[in-house]
Amino acid sequence: MGAPALLMGRDRKTSVIRLEPGAQFHTHRGTIAHDDLIGLRWGTRVSTHLGHPLMLLRPSTDDIVRNLERSTQIIYPKDAGYILMKLSIAPGCRVVEAGTGSGGLTLVLANAVRPTGRVTSYDIRSDRQELARSNLEEVGLADWVTFKNCDIADGIEECELNAMFLDLPNPWDYLFQAHSALAGGGFFGSILPTANQVINLVAALETADFGLVEVEELMLRPYQTASARSRPKDRLKPHTGYLVFARRLIPSGE
Ligand SMILES: C[S@@+](CC[C@H](N)C(=O)[O-])C[C@H]1O[C@@H](n2cnc3c(N)ncnc32)[C@H](O)[C@@H]1O
Repeated sequence: MGAPALLMGRDRKTSVIRLEPGAQFHTHRGTIAHDDLIGLRWGTRVSTHLGHPLMLLRPSTDDIVRNLERSTQIIYPKDAGYILMKLSIAPGCRVVEAGTGSGGLTLVLANAVRPTGRVTSYDIRSDRQELARSNLEEVGLADWVTFKNCDIADGIEECELNAMFLDLPNPWDYLFQAHSALAGGGFFGSILPTANQVINLVAALETADFGLVEVEELMLRPYQTASARSRPKDRLKPHTGYLVFARRLIPSGE
């Protein structure tokens, strides 16, 4: 499989493509042959057959996540980056997440734990996991992920985990499984779209031997750069989700 590349036009529209010999990149402003791009240095300016200028760049993790093919809502880069910090994800970590969804967070976790760590990703829907697997294969990150097409209600096979992240509607129902799978002091995180869900989760964490419970929300305010009016962009992304973090405590008597 060819290397992922980012093409950006003058309108700042971006596309992440795989550079394959013989293939063509099509835009509404003309086409360009991949053969004309392969071997060029990142940062080279190129143009379509109609003369429309494009920049050839190595895609960042943010570009790749934004351009993912999706079958579900994904965790956005602003939240994913902070989740890595809060769960202390680093090379060598063993992490479990549920559900896999489109693999948005899986990709970010795999990138952070390699080369010696492992992400295990559970989802009840095999169709979603197939898309997520293909998204990770596309960018060369599938080797650090084990996909399990299972309901976490039936248990989590891994143990002594560094961290666990739940992105599903009812995480409070799986705190027993999360507690059993995490190492003492291990990091727990979840993202929820509504405050009602947060209230349920916080109440359940407090009775399930988790401590240091935190609830946070991140607001990102991008600014226009390509105009004479330097000010926040007109269309800001509204609420994505509340982030809930906690640490696994050792139950008294264990
Ligand atoms: C919002 S999506 C996850 C999105 C993902 N974090 C991403 O960034 O692409 C929620 C997923 O949880 C899965 N799910 C729901 N309940 C589950 C359960 N009990 N066990 C495993 N997966 C579950 C759903 O099938 C769905 O694919």
